[in-house]
Amino acid sequence: MKLSQWVHQLFGHQKRRGTATSPSNATSYYGQQISRRYCLAAVSLFTLQGIVALLGAVDLIIPDLPSPIPFEYGRAVHLGLAVLWPLIGTMGIAYYSVVQEVQSDIYSPKIARWQLWLVLFFSFSLYATLSLRIGNGREYFEGLPLIYLGISLSIALGAYNLLRTLISAKSRITPAAAITTAGICSLFLFLIPNIFTYQNPIADEAVKFWLVHLWEELAFELTTAGFISYFYVLTGIASKSEMQRWLYLEATLTVVAGFFGTAHHYYWIGFPAYWLLLGLVFSISEVIPVFLLVFLTYKGLKKHPKLNLRLKLSLWFILSSLIHNLIGASLLGLLISVPQINLYMHGTYLTSGHAHLALFGALGFLVLGGIYHVLSQGSEPTSKDYKTGVIAILLLNIGLLTMGLSLIIAGFIQAYLWRMLGMDFVDVHALIQPYLIIRALGGSLFTLGDLIFGRQVYKVWKKTTLK
Ligand code: HEM
Ligand code: HEM
Repeated sequence: MKLSQWVHQLFGHQKRRGTATSPSNATSYYGQQISRRYCLAAVSLFTLQGIVALLGAVDLIIPDLPSPIPFEYGRAVHLGLAVLWPLIGTMGIAYYSVVQEVQSDIYSPKIARWQLWLVLFFSFSLYATLSLRIGNGREYFEGLPLIYLGISLSIALGAYNLLRTLISAKSRITPAAAITTAGICSLFLFLIPNIFTYQNPIADEAVKFWLVHLWEELAFELTTAGFISYFYVLTGIASKSEMQRWLYLEATLTVVAGFFGTAHHYYWIGFPAYWLLLGLVFSISEVIPVFLLVFLTYKGLKKHPKLNLRLKLSLWFILSSLIHNLIGASLLGLLISVPQINLYMHGTYLTSGHAHLALFGALGFLVLGGIYHVLSQGSEPTSKDYKTGVIAILLLNIGLLTMGLSLIIAGFIQAYLWRMLGMDFVDVHALIQPYLIIRALGGSLFTLGDLIFGRQVYKVWKKTTLK
């Protein structure tokens, strides 16, 4: 039996043509209606993450705080949320923008609905089992292997659905739609090896970084490039031909540099010494596409494109992402990729500073911008709603920068006193307490921004949902 027939039977797929337009939400395709559910689910998880994370940051400065979940399991839940809400949001944005790009509906709405239930079921299973202290201590993969198998299945369904959508669209395929789909397929490919565990500790570490690094710096780079291209053409920030040229270059550089750039994670895990040089060289190439995007954005904004409040709000998210991508992800990432620096900085709070500035700063902001764009279609915000949205973005930025800077300072102190001078870890930890307190304060501002944005999104959702 052919794969497509099997999928048809399993999900009872019925092809529905035409539009699902409603006066209130004005989304033209079923694929876009479904993408709204992904976006709402992602924002709900993001709101939950703000609260969980803040509790964790307080637990670090008041260790005897009575808590039903020990810090290490709380951290694992936090990491699970940090990776999964951007994934769910990305899936929604991908459905929305691919369908819009190719001007025809999604191949199977039913698969898309099943895919969402699957990813939500396995995400909540992960959080529930970790909260019950069922886990294995493998950072970023603390949950049961079955859970990652379920999440891979969900991504595989998404990749299949998008590929079939492209095949049906034939000549209407655009580079942005193809690159977004390639990004979703790579999310699946890089997760698969992590369903298994490996006896050899070097292989186990390396495979882990195929997810931590290749998801963030290759697969998500492709999906976000697809969305940025769609958004810039829509808003007139760049022309279609400019964006196509950038997309081809961006995709090539991202795939090559992102793939080999994983080498900066291989420095001290047992790989031969030449990986130190490879890691540095490819880390430098990873930064080039970001500079190109900054240049393109600067050129586009100089033309003062006329935007309504809805598009402006999404643009604020994208601009926040670009700044953090340039500074927190690329430049700070490059600094810690220098082997002589990484030797001292590896695994200190500096890594945590980079992780927050990059994972939320670069990726998270962009996903939130996309989510807002998807959910607000058909509803122009009032100027009060717009102002509230801007306040939420400001709070998220100020909170993130406060957290990032205090972690970077704490990381430098740790590297100097603990790694270089050989002071005791616990004594150094006592000395960096003030910075961890400032981080928790930054976290409070962040969580406030997070809650305000969550409330705004919920209001938009209600306004744009069919009665
Ligand atoms: C949006 C892009 C990026 C994201 C989301 C991201 C995310 C992360 C995360 C989550 C970690 C922590 C991994 C762990 O806990 O072991 C990390 C580590 C690291 N990242 Fe990035 N990163 C990005 C871009 C970059 C770039 C462009 C570079 C280099 C030019 C880079 C260099 C590094 C290095 C060297 C480490 C390891 C630090 C250590 O040894 O402790 N990152 N990154
Ligand atoms: C209220 C905001 C947040 C607070 C207070 C917070 C707090 C924490 C804490 C306490 C840890 C444990 C290790 C450490 O102390 O660094 C941690 C780790 C981490 N968090 Fe957050 N977090 C927040 C938001 C986020 C967001 C939005 C993301 C990404 C979407 C994120 C991604 C991560 C990652 C990747 C790590 C592991 C870092 C490493 O490998 O060193 N966090 N966070």
